[in-house]
Amino acid sequence: MLKQINPTSTNAWKALEAHFETMKDVQMKDLFDTDASRAEKFSQTFEDIFVDYSKNITTDETMKLLLDLAKETGVAEGIQSLFNGEHINETEDRAVYHVALRNQSNTPMKVDGEDVMVEVNHVLRQMKEFSEKVISGEWKGFSGKSITDVVNIGIGGSDLGPFMVTEALKPYATNVNVHYVSNVDGTHISETLKTLDPETTMFIIASKTFTTQETMTNANSARTWFLESAKSENHIMMHFVALSTNEEKVREFGIAPENMFRFWDWVGGRYSLWSAIGLSIACNIGFDNFEEVLKGAHAMDNHFKSAEFDENLPVILAVLGVWYNNFYGAESHALLPYDQYMHRFAAYFQQGDMESNGKCVDRAGNPIDYQTGPIIWGEPGTNGQHAFYQLIHQGTKMIPADFIAPAVSQNPISDHHPKLLSNFFAQTEALMTGKTEETVVAEFKAAGKSDEEIERLKTFKVFDGNRPTNSILMKKLTPFTLGAMIAMYEHKIFVQGVIWNIFSYDQWGVELGKQLANKILPELQNEEKVVSHDSSTNQLINKYKEMR
Ligand code: F6P
Repeated sequence: MLKQINPTSTNAWKALEAHFETMKDVQMKDLFDTDASRAEKFSQTFEDIFVDYSKNITTDETMKLLLDLAKETGVAEGIQSLFNGEHINETEDRAVYHVALRNQSNTPMKVDGEDVMVEVNHVLRQMKEFSEKVISGEWKGFSGKSITDVVNIGIGGSDLGPFMVTEALKPYATNVNVHYVSNVDGTHISETLKTLDPETTMFIIASKTFTTQETMTNANSARTWFLESAKSENHIMMHFVALSTNEEKVREFGIAPENMFRFWDWVGGRYSLWSAIGLSIACNIGFDNFEEVLKGAHAMDNHFKSAEFDENLPVILAVLGVWYNNFYGAESHALLPYDQYMHRFAAYFQQGDMESNGKCVDRAGNPIDYQTGPIIWGEPGTNGQHAFYQLIHQGTKMIPADFIAPAVSQNPISDHHPKLLSNFFAQTEALMTGKTEETVVAEFKAAGKSDEEIERLKTFKVFDGNRPTNSILMKKLTPFTLGAMIAMYEHKIFVQGVIWNIFSYDQWGVELGKQLANKILPELQNEEKVVSHDSSTNQLINKYKEMR
């Protein structure tokens, strides 16, 4: 089980506080000037992924103390508990075992004494068979036509992962198109269905609980739309499959057990793309490529499990995050992929990280007085450069950022890729070095500006620099590499959760809103004036009733 250690009470934390006092005015560029080996020293290669974390405000001493903090807070033991299938999701009394889903070496992995690999492999075989039939055209719809389009209906972890992966791996797509419907806003399903033919469409209803309001509402609308053409409920089995842990609810919806792909309560929603929730991925890029994603993640799992902390990528990224979050007061962390295919990567890890580590009580249930999970955000470069980078460069907030890019483009046309990557390198360089007043003045002089003008404008053009970044270069965005990258960030989140002494695998914070929405929904279904809430909520509900 995970230890209960307040990180602020550790020796390492105290040492880090003292160390921070000596570091807070240190300039990264000086660290580079005084250590020729810095870039090499603070870089790490894993398979086709190269991580340069030298552009951080860190010294050997900082890294040592941060890794000491990981040791003192029980990260090594935590990793063992995770891989041993212990119930580390204590508030729900569950194991956290997504690592078993991608255990491609197929060694036994046990939860409560039972080897889960038997069932995991069974579902993988079921997914392989199904996706191959769909892709080959062998699976026929009610009118005898093959399936051309798969619609995944799910939300949160039952949507974001498969959506992100199929977008990232578009170059590997087969002739089966995928669509993702998540929002309960009727626009989402309506706009999706407009382009589809019920005779050639397969619906995948993806929901761990099979009770989620948004998903069940969209699933019912899809069913109605389908039956308008198919006429008979007997045809549902050819066009609807379910991915769930809840067999009873799946049956109630009218989906036959043979069309259900199971997973288990030890698979957290936001860690479920490796499970049956990945079925839309397999239908889109083919099962072999889906398996490559699993293999990449498994390779990263093995690295995470066995590498020493000073060479362990998830641990290194995690402690760097702690350094800025807890000592520099950084509130957010940006994920900036320089790859258009990865445009949902930050959105995916918004759930992955914020639903996991957005917690304010420790593992004993006591309120905590230190910062936990950061705000995760980001967009692909270079678009972001023309939108929000201004604040990263010259704003008052420190925003640590990960720059991510493939060295080899999937679309090597003209000089697009060198241009893209020159921006990646330039941004991380600019964020670190900044621009001094001296340089600004010299540039103005060279451009023939008057002394008066220079005096008036110079401060606006100064960049303080010293803004931390990690640079992650992959050879190419392949299924294997993507799998490894996702697993790397997942484990980073795990390590941070262990250090912060919080439970990363529950998400009680999403419940209150759901409960209140369930209370409000019936109030919207009549014309009576509502008075049961606070005056603002009453006013909004009544205004809505008036306006609709
Ligand atoms: O919003 C909370 C949440 O439980 C997420 O953790 C989960 O990914 C999502 O809802 C969807 O849940 P389900 O797969 O049960 O429909």
